[in-house]
Amino acid sequence: MDPPLITLEEHFFSSAASTSETISTQYSEQFKHIPNLLDKLTDLSTLRLSQMDLGHVSFQIISHAPGSLTASECQSANDQLFSAIRAHPDRFAGFAVLPMSDPVACAAELTRCVTELGFVGALVDNHTPSGGYYDDEAYLPFWTAASDLDVPIYLHPTWPTATQLSTLYTGNFSRSASKSISASAFGWHSDVATHVLRLVASGLFDRLPALKVVIGHMGEMLPFMLGRIAQLSVRWTAAGPEEKDDDDAADHPPPPPTPFKDVWDRNIWITTSGNWSVDPMATILRNTKMDRILYSVDYPFAKNEDGLEFVRDLATSGLVTEDQLEMIAFRNAEKLFGVKAVKRF
Ligand SMILES: *[C@@H]1O[C@H](CO)[C@@H](O)[C@H](O)[C@H]1NC(C)=O
Ligand SMILES: *[C@@H]1O[C@H](CO)[C@@H](O)[C@H](O)[C@H]1NC(C)=O
Repeated sequence: MDPPLITLEEHFFSSAASTSETISTQYSEQFKHIPNLLDKLTDLSTLRLSQMDLGHVSFQIISHAPGSLTASECQSANDQLFSAIRAHPDRFAGFAVLPMSDPVACAAELTRCVTELGFVGALVDNHTPSGGYYDDEAYLPFWTAASDLDVPIYLHPTWPTATQLSTLYTGNFSRSASKSISASAFGWHSDVATHVLRLVASGLFDRLPALKVVIGHMGEMLPFMLGRIAQLSVRWTAAGPEEKDDDDAADHPPPPPTPFKDVWDRNIWITTSGNWSVDPMATILRNTKMDRILYSVDYPFAKNEDGLEFVRDLATSGLVTEDQLEMIAFRNAEKLFGVKAVKRF
């Protein structure tokens, strides 16, 4: 029997996004390959619920799909999502979309969404359109707000900047291969992994030891590299004074950042979104705590039905007990987000 399922990398398009030319160009490949994608993205009601039913998903935590929105577009997208949640509180909860180019505005909108709209966190693009990452000191108020509000931040892949595309992903191969390698085939996943390392190295988790970060796609390849990163990260030193020529600082060097493995165990949650296979799960189940692993689909870019098949494969794989399967399917998400999956299927 299938356990109830909660999913949390499940996207929609606000009215602003569905009419934005930039965003529709970014999604051109997906629109070519996924039938009815725009309908599925813009719907927050009947179509979405029927698609959830097909994959036995009891409860979705919905977030905006990647793509940069202005502060006022974020507000109206969040208000739009709030109305949908109010109409179906037993099926939906929300992650805020935030104007990440503006570190002050994104902290304020996160706070509004959590305190006034009851959202359970935020899902944000992995970097700003100009290639800014959130280990920058300017983002400390944002992370502090997330930590104080006690809500997780989901770091979601986004397209490379033009510079990243030309330096890392352009070669003697087709433009379509270049676009794919830079994004969903590999590049934007590895970019999330690198971002997590940047956050750890910056000492963010030492300043905010209760901060919660979620990453998708089976941990964005980090589980596979975990031993190596854990071993090498213990040599990382603190940024700052040590790198200046300062005698006093040399006498009292700042403490190094917490080793990566400790942050992995304490501050990071991962989801199974996107492309399921029991193979990476076998690794994750050996090196990541069971209460850190959460089921997700990545609707409508992936199908709820395919996810259900993965859950069934996992159930019969011999890798997890029934209790452990329930943790991954819904219990861990219930605990992390304070939501409830009612058994409906
Ligand atoms: C690029 O690829 C083509 C086709 O394989 C080949 O003929 C050409 O020599 C390559 N050019 C470079 C600079 O590698
Ligand atoms: C995941 O990727 C594999 C390999 O490309 C493919 O065979 C499989 O259908 C994909 N599964 C899903 C659920 O997308």
